[in-house]
Amino acid sequence: MLATTTPAAVPVAAPAADIPMVGYAVMDRDHVDSVALLQAARNAPAGQLQAPFAAFAKHLREHFARENALMTEHGFFALHCHKDEHARVLTVVATMEADLEEGKEDRARLYVTEHFPDWFHTHLATMDRVTADFLAQAEG
Ligand SMILES: [Fe+2]
Ligand SMILES: [Fe+2]
Repeated sequence: MLATTTPAAVPVAAPAADIPMVGYAVMDRDHVDSVALLQAARNAPAGQLQAPFAAFAKHLREHFARENALMTEHGFFALHCHKDEHARVLTVVATMEADLEEGKEDRARLYVTEHFPDWFHTHLATMDRVTADFLAQAEG
């Protein structure tokens, strides 16, 4: 069983109220943590994005692994579709980490300010919401 973790105190500029709740506690907690870590990365001064981006990436790997495990455990009907989307995003995130390793921040900064927030909002409203509804019914 994967542990649920709450990151240590990080600046949360985006209020939790802006995050659509899916109604499944483990997932909602991960989504709040994702936004907090995303915000910490967005707030990083120029030249200092690597560490907060690494924390954000680590959390995403754990967050997606928890969802994948829940979907697998309960036989979610769209498991592969949802898992593939997580894998696709983690591949993109890994390329950003490689950029940052080389001292290149531009793409990672654009990712945390524009691309990820757009993707995340849509993902929560679609795949995660359907998954949460399924899990709640499966456990109900
Ligand atoms: Fe999620
Ligand atoms: Fe997801």
